[in-house]
Amino acid sequence: MLTAKEIRDSFKNFFESKGHHIVPSAPMVIKDDPTLMFTNAGMNQFKDIILGNHPAKYQRVADSQKCLRVSGKHNDLEEVGHDTYHHTMFEMLGNWSFGDYFKKEAISWAWEYLVEVLKLNPEHLYATVFEGSPEEGLGRDDEAASYWEQFLPKDHIINGNKHDNFWEMGDTGPCGPCSEIHIDLRPAEERAKISGRDLVNHDHPQVIEIWNLVFMQYNRKADGSLEPLPAKVIDTGMGFERLCMALQGKTSNYDTDVFQPMLKAIAAMSGTEYGKDKQQDIAMRVIADHIRTIAFSITDGQLPSNAKAGYVIRRILRRAVRYGYTFLGQKQAFMYKLLPVLIDNMGEAYPELIAQKALIEKVIKEEEESFLRTLETGIRLLDKTMEDTKANGKTEISGKDAFILYDTFGFPLDLTELILRENGMTVNIEEF
Ligand code: SER
Repeated sequence: MLTAKEIRDSFKNFFESKGHHIVPSAPMVIKDDPTLMFTNAGMNQFKDIILGNHPAKYQRVADSQKCLRVSGKHNDLEEVGHDTYHHTMFEMLGNWSFGDYFKKEAISWAWEYLVEVLKLNPEHLYATVFEGSPEEGLGRDDEAASYWEQFLPKDHIINGNKHDNFWEMGDTGPCGPCSEIHIDLRPAEERAKISGRDLVNHDHPQVIEIWNLVFMQYNRKADGSLEPLPAKVIDTGMGFERLCMALQGKTSNYDTDVFQPMLKAIAAMSGTEYGKDKQQDIAMRVIADHIRTIAFSITDGQLPSNAKAGYVIRRILRRAVRYGYTFLGQKQAFMYKLLPVLIDNMGEAYPELIAQKALIEKVIKEEEESFLRTLETGIRLLDKTMEDTKANGKTEISGKDAFILYDTFGFPLDLTELILRENGMTVNIEEF
């Protein structure tokens, strides 16, 4: 079985053999693009090349990029931990062509890599193509479909709408039709009952997208119009953790060697085991996911704070602390103690973690301690409010109570809402 490290290396080696220059991951935190707080895709670092503002140093590049999808157009935060295949931070394996090869090579190399190099079963693969959009004046991507037909039977090629098959970086910027490769990881008896074709893009945890091949052809302007790019660009992105799941024969990203050491450490620290209790498992997945995001944000220069990108990181850290506190009995700072496990697992591929270990530990520990103080008081008060509300036969707490929690005790509104939801209650937000 290939390890995560071997898989990452094999991707780079494959594209190097196809004439690509391997570049390092860009930082996950973006400081010079007002349209984006965090790197949400491998192509971000190439935005100016794609738009034609900068010449490309190499026409073919490939990398593994640290990405974060927690704000703006691409935001997966609420799913993380509850399902088994979304993450806040994830690694995206990508290959690019800046005005060099286009759809034909992108599709045939993707196929060659997955099927010939990695030996994934082609019968379990599906490709989607853009069905077109009359309102944008765009037709179906027959060209991409014709290349897929060389590899896949017609019933494994699926039309997709603008939402799924027209990729955009944000409200403005580079975009274009895309073809996604989906994989069906279900056992044979389930595959016999329902075709994978019917489950593509239906949020099934074992029929999932693994690779997106974007055929960048346009720049979305602020007025919503599409302007052709100066040169056609290939931008592909493959979910590394999902690929590991497929290759390691698992049905959850968290069962791969990317996450297992961390989950074991969290379980040991909490005196439990992963896989025993649904709610505890969610909490452990949340923590295993979020510790990566927090550590990498700090190494990339974004500390938790009260505003903008810093507040997003603070909220992620608090989400993890809260799950640990409520479901794993972690009443003291604990996340900072997980750093050696993370370094052991990812320090070789990302040496910045090793270089900044002391800083990361210190920042996380301080942040945890300060939030735990807020948490204790807030949870106590909220419990009391919920009890009183229920005693009055109601399920909605007053917005004034939520405001006092927030204003006087620093207890975040989103946390109040989350805890209320978990208890089947709501808040009257008009009164907040
Ligand atoms: N930009 C595309 C994505 O993020 C492909 O890399 O999915």
